[in-house]
Amino acid sequence: MTNMFSLEGHIALVTGSAQGLGNRIARGMLDAGAKVVLSDISQAALDKAVAELKEEGHDAAAFAFDISNEEQVEKAVTQIEEQVGPIDILVNNAGIHKRDLLINMPVENWRKVIDVNLTGAFITGRAVARGMISRRYGKIINISSINAMMVRPNIGNYCAAKGGIVTLTKSMATEWGEYNINVNAIGPGYFLTDLTKPLSEDPEFDAWVKSEVPLRRWGDPNKDLAGVAVMLASNAADYISGQTIYVDGGWDACL
Ligand SMILES: NC(=O)c1ccc[n+]([C@@H]2O[C@H](COP(=O)([O-])OP(=O)(O)OC[C@H]3O[C@@H](n4cnc5c(N)ncnc54)[C@H](O)[C@@H]3O)[C@@H](O)[C@H]2O)c1
Repeated sequence: MTNMFSLEGHIALVTGSAQGLGNRIARGMLDAGAKVVLSDISQAALDKAVAELKEEGHDAAAFAFDISNEEQVEKAVTQIEEQVGPIDILVNNAGIHKRDLLINMPVENWRKVIDVNLTGAFITGRAVARGMISRRYGKIINISSINAMMVRPNIGNYCAAKGGIVTLTKSMATEWGEYNINVNAIGPGYFLTDLTKPLSEDPEFDAWVKSEVPLRRWGDPNKDLAGVAVMLASNAADYISGQTIYVDGGWDACL
């Protein structure tokens, strides 16, 4: 029987993949047989990530660009398709935080988070989808968050962007389905990465996560997220589109 989760013969572009969840998703896709293109805003971080992969016997291309900059995205997608090949899997993963209470939040911090976390997924998704539409094949995975449905103080900009990702995913799935493009989102719960360091290093927050999550622990980036991304990128998900799958240790079941 053929392996329905195999990504052999496919090229995957993962944004924000120099570190954190994007990096682990990229590794999972490499393990599943895909050719992977790492991308990030930081060239230095990308160089480090490529070198680490090389040491482990993996080969990955890398392109530095800012997902919120239309010109950079268009140029990078063209270069990737010319130099590496057609992108048939896109993971819109790059994201940032600028934490503040709404009442104090400078508009520039609101705009920055919406720009990167929501508009970046639109700009990159649109640039990559043009080729997918012409080839009549594509899998797009947008990274949302448990904060799309469970909000907390201090992150109103982030929650709005991640809620937007859930509906952007439905819009992309609705408009591009006829071209055989599947678009889904993943909503991670709380995972231990640089992005959540200010939270995991706070004993009160750490205890709150462990007491609320039914599985009683934080998500482990090394093993808890890449599997679902590989599944959504594979033929196993050919009839799944427009969905958001929460990978949160069961938290959304008891909110
Ligand atoms: N860690 C968690 O618990 C968690 C939970 C829910 C959702 N998420 C989401 O998962 C994604 C990855 O988060 P993470 O925890 O790995 O974060 P991270 O900070 O470890 O990594 C994010 C990466 O994105 C890159 N990046 C930032 N802005 C960029 C831009 N404009 N263009 C291109 N690259 C850019 C950064 O350089 C970094 O390498 C984000 O979208 C985040 O919102 C994370």
